[in-house]
Amino acid sequence: MTQTRKRIFITGGASGLGRALAFTYAKAGWDVYIGDVNEKRGVATARDLKTLHPNQRVEFRRCDVTLLEDLQAVSEWLKSNWGGVDTVVNNAGVVAAGALAEQPLVDWEWILNINLLGVVRGCKVFTPLFRAQGHGQFINIASAAGFAHLPRMAAYNATKAAVIAVSETLVLELKADHIHVSVVCPTFFRTHLIESLRTQDAVARSQALKLVTEAKLSAEMIAVVIHRQAEKKRFMIMPDPEAYSVRLLKGLLPLSLFFRLLERAEKIKLER
Ligand SMILES: NC(=O)c1ccc[n+]([C@@H]2O[C@H](COP(=O)([O-])OP(=O)(O)OC[C@H]3O[C@@H](n4cnc5c(N)ncnc54)[C@H](O)[C@@H]3O)[C@@H](O)[C@H]2O)c1
Repeated sequence: MTQTRKRIFITGGASGLGRALAFTYAKAGWDVYIGDVNEKRGVATARDLKTLHPNQRVEFRRCDVTLLEDLQAVSEWLKSNWGGVDTVVNNAGVVAAGALAEQPLVDWEWILNINLLGVVRGCKVFTPLFRAQGHGQFINIASAAGFAHLPRMAAYNATKAAVIAVSETLVLELKADHIHVSVVCPTFFRTHLIESLRTQDAVARSQALKLVTEAKLSAEMIAVVIHRQAEKKRFMIMPDPEAYSVRLLKGLLPLSLFFRLLERAEKIKLER
């Protein structure tokens, strides 16, 4: 039987970008399954989705991306109940900040386990289902922090650079299976990300708070661009022009000059 309804699974789908993507895809006629560790927001998001899009199938379950078995349970459910899934968005993420010399290693382990290994687990669990179906798409949410590395953000920067590396690797690894991979690298946009912040550094805390809460872009604006570009099967999705310019400059300028630009950008942001 040919599957006509499109189906998406989004990790961290209860808040911020995940929630905005859920609404964007539901509006475009997709059935939406969201997973998250925040059950209160997950239930509320599923309820709001059903109210606004009564013709779409909507599901929520508690799904922790640090647990392989939670992701496996979603994959099995999707196979049994919706006949599979077309797109998986590995979006769940948290933030840690602080100078490397002072930051506890336990914060590194925590963020690597969610931001990097969460994406790895998502790709690992859903690849067999995509292969069996003969198609599928991963949308991995990285960040412009994956190539523009602001100071006091080494742990977060490292997870996002690694998500880009994993995604690039998978493009060729999964090509023959007709599995497409996209990686998303936005700058800052307004969400609840800061609620997860782990830091002991007051400067890093106020910097991170400012960057996210005072960002010009909303999660909804980012989600619309991701949907449009993912449908065109773009690999590198940079939803805002700032991310695009920063990446271009890094490629063109000598690194010493690029570092000076980052230094100035950081100073301006701190003084604001
Ligand atoms: N907000 C920004 O400025 C920004 C910029 C670039 C990239 N990003 C990335 O966008 C993604 C979404 O973040 P957001 O900004 O929407 O933040 P958010 O906090 O609003 O949403 C993140 C969601 O992930 C969930 N989550 C956290 N740990 C989890 C786990 N172990 N398992 C499952 N779910 C978990 C949270 O409960 C939350 O609902 C993240 O990967 C983040 O790094 C955000």
